[in-house]
Amino acid sequence: MKSIVTGGAGFIGSTIVDALLERGDDVLIVDDFSTGRDSNLDNAKKDYGSKLTIVKKDICELSLMEDFEAFKPDVVFHTAAQINVRKSVAEPGFDAEKNVAGTVNILEAARRGGAKRFVFSSTGGAIYGEQESFPASEEHPNKPESQYGVGKRAAELYLELYARKFDMTVVSLRYSNVFGPRQNAKGEAGVVAIFTDKLVEEQSLKVNGDGEQTRDFVYVGDVTAANLAVSELDRPGELSVYNVGRGVEISVLDVVNAFKKVWPEHCGSKCPDVKFEHGPALPGEQMRSVIDSSRLQKEFSWSAPVDLEQGLVHTIKSVT
Ligand SMILES: NC(=O)c1ccc[n+]([C@@H]2O[C@H](COP(=O)([O-])OP(=O)(O)OC[C@H]3O[C@@H](n4cnc5c(N)ncnc54)[C@H](O)[C@@H]3O)[C@@H](O)[C@H]2O)c1
Repeated sequence: MKSIVTGGAGFIGSTIVDALLERGDDVLIVDDFSTGRDSNLDNAKKDYGSKLTIVKKDICELSLMEDFEAFKPDVVFHTAAQINVRKSVAEPGFDAEKNVAGTVNILEAARRGGAKRFVFSSTGGAIYGEQESFPASEEHPNKPESQYGVGKRAAELYLELYARKFDMTVVSLRYSNVFGPRQNAKGEAGVVAIFTDKLVEEQSLKVNGDGEQTRDFVYVGDVTAANLAVSELDRPGELSVYNVGRGVEISVLDVVNAFKKVWPEHCGSKCPDVKFEHGPALPGEQMRSVIDSSRLQKEFSWSAPVDLEQGLVHTIKSVT
């Protein structure tokens, strides 16, 4: 198989790249390295150098048409995005340029390159907004609270068009909160990456507000397994949408307690106590988010076996 991974130097993208190389694919990465890191590709380059091509370009570049046409991918995994929700509010035009126009450019390049399958990294939490029911299924009303959520939803409308008009199998995976090794703690990273970084720097953890806000944490290895599973789907002509989460509502205070439990055993030589303090609540922060992934479970026998504590151990071990 020949696979293209946009955002392949990023947290989720590079984990997908590793799994594709391991199964024997030829992989082409498109990444501008704005938040992605070269070090995320160290293993891939060392173990599978000849099967890996890296194209350092913005997803909006029109010259990608020629790169895709030359590579002739079987499948495209589109993970590259502007991922910072606050930035999408402050610079909505920039967010739409990367997440809507950039996605359209990659869809068009995939079509011209002859890709039969396209897998998109979308979002559950940001598309559903403040939920009316718990957990939210794929049918939950879409009420994004941010430009980032609208951009991802808008991109899905283009996905549907391309599936229908060009007979492609197109899948949108709506992730909950993904965590695990390689997540960049700077910028808009999840709470697990930020807390891990603070502990390594021997600082106390900062909980925004009362810490009762909840999220649905899913491990990056399980998200990667979902990407690989749906990339074998054969359903041309329609957009297939799947939530990817564990369906377990976990508060930020629960995350602190999980760190308290696993950190002392796995922190290596530098082992500061886990201390935390409350800071002001973030204005407009979503209070509860949890999604129902039974559609993905039923159709692909997918599961997310790695729970928060197990995933924390992997994450901590990757930096200590
Ligand atoms: N991490 C999560 O919890 C989560 C949740 C829901 C959805 N997602 C989606 O999953 C995808 C991957 O997110 P991530 O957490 O791995 O983020 P990440 O920042 O680690 O990865 C994004 C990658 O895309 C690259 N990139 C960004 N803008 C680009 C551009 N204009 N041109 C080319 N490359 C560009 C970055 O350099 C980086 O390597 C994104 O689409 C994100 O919206 C992530």
